[in-house]
Amino acid sequence: MSSDTPRQLLGGLTASEFLRDVWQQKPLLIRGALPDLECPLSPDELAGLACEEGIEARLVEEHGRDGPWQVQHGPFDDATFAALPDEDWSLLVQAVDHYVPEVAALLDHFDFLPRWRLDDIMISYAPPGGSVGPHVDHYDVFLLQASGQRRWQLGGRVTDDAPIIDGIDLRILERFDVTPGDDWVLEPGDMLYLPPGWAHHGVSDSDDCMTVSVGFRAPSADEAVTSYADYVGETLPASQRFSDAGMPLPADPGELNDAALERMRRLILDSLDDPAQLAQWFGRAMTQPKYVDQLVPADEPIDIEELVAALHDGEELVRSLGSRFAWRALDAERATLFVDGDGLSCSLPLARTLASDAALDATLLEFDGAAELLALLHDRGSLSWPQEDDDDEDDQ
Ligand code: SIN
Ligand code: CO
Repeated sequence: MSSDTPRQLLGGLTASEFLRDVWQQKPLLIRGALPDLECPLSPDELAGLACEEGIEARLVEEHGRDGPWQVQHGPFDDATFAALPDEDWSLLVQAVDHYVPEVAALLDHFDFLPRWRLDDIMISYAPPGGSVGPHVDHYDVFLLQASGQRRWQLGGRVTDDAPIIDGIDLRILERFDVTPGDDWVLEPGDMLYLPPGWAHHGVSDSDDCMTVSVGFRAPSADEAVTSYADYVGETLPASQRFSDAGMPLPADPGELNDAALERMRRLILDSLDDPAQLAQWFGRAMTQPKYVDQLVPADEPIDIEELVAALHDGEELVRSLGSRFAWRALDAERATLFVDGDGLSCSLPLARTLASDAALDATLLEFDGAAELLALLHDRGSLSWPQEDDDDEDDQ
């Protein structure tokens, strides 16, 4: 864990102070958060990603051919970009951290947050006037200005039922009142943190405006209940059922009485209330890949002896960009390592190392069962040799 000293990234707050006073509570503008930031890719490179199959990209035009606030979804082609006007549009590409290692490296700055809370890094490019309109996100986001200028205006916390403009494929607020003073032009290296539910509007102020959004996800109660109930449901025997043995004579056989309701409530709560099972579900849910198709299994299972020899030769495995790792102790020696939506039991120090950013080299082999686990993760596509990544790129 990194030391808890004041950080320029957080405007001079320590990570503990930021978490205590700001995170999920209020916005924070940080001038010069990353003063030496070099924009990790050019607008053309971003447009190139937006032309690739399987990469989630959107083009938002404020005065499109088919009406105001027109949204198109990628993949795009050169003709799409050639037809765009000089102003008032935005290109947004999701999960750029999955494709560009220099973008993934930005995540190192956010080591004070649980890694499994990360959603992705989205990058936008916009010529002057480009925006996605005033809106609210459900996620925490760090909006880092990577090049050019963007003017950000905030409109305070808004409720879930705030009216949004009808008939368009974007959730733009019908009403947006700028909070006096919450109006800034961000320069390269500046960053704005926003908690969920805070109205915001960012408009490009230059022809090289690129904004990096580091987004953190929090599962909704709706998703959590549905997904956990599904997970538990798989393990429950058909014989575990509503039971009313020994009940008193019903006053009215047509009534759903309090005692019946309480029996059903207990059946549901007792079936769900198992902390060990909850942990197993939670780890799987929070390491579920954002794009399942991007987890590419190896063509052939790796030979374990070859894997061990390669590590002894000084080679290192790497975590695939976009793969998610987390761990939870089972006891003092064993843990569940959660990887890309699955849970694997292994030694605690091995799980901790795999779920950290430590190098995956021969030192791992001193842990019990390491070679087999590394081979399995390699075969599933969660780990790879750096060489294999290069080959994949050449193939595209
Ligand atoms: C953008 O980069 O244009 C929008 C980011 C956001 O508002 O969440
Ligand atoms: Co937003």
